[in-house]
Amino acid sequence: MDEALSRKPPTVTALYPGSFDPITNGHLDLIQRGSLLFDRLIVSILRNESKEPLFSVEERTEMLREVVRVYPNVEVDSFNGLLVDHAAAHSATVLVRGIRAISDYEYELQMALMNRRLRPEIETIFLMSNEAYSFISSRLVKEVLSLGGDISGLVPPSVEARLHRRMAKTIRKGN
Ligand code: PNS
Repeated sequence: MDEALSRKPPTVTALYPGSFDPITNGHLDLIQRGSLLFDRLIVSILRNESKEPLFSVEERTEMLREVVRVYPNVEVDSFNGLLVDHAAAHSATVLVRGIRAISDYEYELQMALMNRRLRPEIETIFLMSNEAYSFISSRLVKEVLSLGGDISGLVPPSVEARLHRRMAKTIRKGN
C-alpha cells in the first residue's frame, strides 16, 4: 500500500470542485451525501476566466452559500490553478466528483488519475446522485430556460428565481 495512504487523518476534509454555473439539484444531492460521509466538505468553484459563465464567481458563491446553509459542515470557496494544490492548502484528502452516466466516466477517470499522479495522497471518490437527478446538467438547465422550457425541480427554488431574473435581464438587453 502507498505510504501516503496508510494513515487516515483524524478528521476527513473533502473537496467538491466544479463550475456550478449554476448549482443544480444533482449537485445539491451530492453535497448532502458528502456532508454525511465527511467531517468537513468544501464546495469549491473554479475561477476560469476563459469560460463565459452565466453567473460570476461571486454570484455562484452566494447561490451556493444560500443552499448549503442547512449543512453545518459544508463551506463554499473558489480556486485558480491546480485543484490538488487547492485541496492540499485546505488539508483536504478527498476529492468528490459526481458520475451521472457512463459518458461521464472517461473524463472523470482521466482527471482522477492525473490528480493522483500530481498528489498521490489525495483520493478521488465518485458519488452517484439520486437517479431522479441523473439527467440534469447546468448546461441543459440554461438551454431549456433560454428556450422557454420549465426548469422547476431541476435547481433549488432560490437558483430558479435568479435564473429567471437573469434571463429577463438578458432579453431586455436584446441578447
Ligand atoms: O464542473 P466541471 O466544470 O466539470 O468541473 C471541472 C473541474 C473544476 C473539476 C476541473 O476543470 C478542474 O479540476 N480544474 C482545475 C485545473 C486542474 O487542476 N487541472 C489538472 C488536473 S485534471
